[in-house]
Amino acid sequence: MNSEFWNDRYSSSDYAYGIEPNDFLKKQNFKPKGNILCLAEGEGRNAVFLARQGYKVTAIDYSLKGLQKTQQLAKIFKVSIDTICADIGTYDFDENQWDGIVCIFGHFPPSLRNKVHSKIYSSLKKGGKCVLVAYSKEQLKYNTGGPLNADLLYSINELEEDFSDFKTILIEQIEINISEGKFHDGLSSVIQIIGEK
Ligand SMILES: C[S@@+](CC[C@H](N)C(=O)[O-])C[C@H]1O[C@@H](n2cnc3c(N)ncnc32)[C@H](O)[C@@H]1O
Repeated sequence: MNSEFWNDRYSSSDYAYGIEPNDFLKKQNFKPKGNILCLAEGEGRNAVFLARQGYKVTAIDYSLKGLQKTQQLAKIFKVSIDTICADIGTYDFDENQWDGIVCIFGHFPPSLRNKVHSKIYSSLKKGGKCVLVAYSKEQLKYNTGGPLNADLLYSINELEEDFSDFKTILIEQIEINISEGKFHDGLSSVIQIIGEK
């Protein structure tokens, strides 16, 4: 998968993962009015939700089409979001910068996964919070969404290691029903993390 794959996926007028935020993210909160970076944000459903809660939101994705739809959704809900079209592997998130970082179904190859997660840690302010949701390797059995390549799916052991510098408030692998657009639909195996710096 590359940016062309995602531009193609986002080329229809409907929203591939819907316009409602991820269920787990919906229950979280961050420092009031804090600045939040949404990684691999796609068409913006999570970024718009956070902006509507009063956070100052920046969304990064390498799909220009996805970010155009993020701006379209932001306009509908009358909120403002900064969008950055960049590859997360090379983009510099800056140090001690963010009150929150959100990564919902951003799946990176093994060579990048650990690097992205350590960039999340260093770019959070002290006390800042990361919220991450990703499909586990078990997801291949379910066929209800997510990458079909095991290398892009995560194990809880890998993530425990990646998040070892964080104070982990929660790290769990669960089986849940997901109904987030036509590409994420049905009983699924996901890993949910709340980590604080
Ligand atoms: C399954 S979608 C999730 C979109 C969004 N987070 C959501 O939950 O609706 C995965 C997103 O990751 C983005 N992505 C994957 N690898 C990336 C990378 N290296 N740099 C930037 N974006 C990336 C894709 O463009 C795509 O929008």
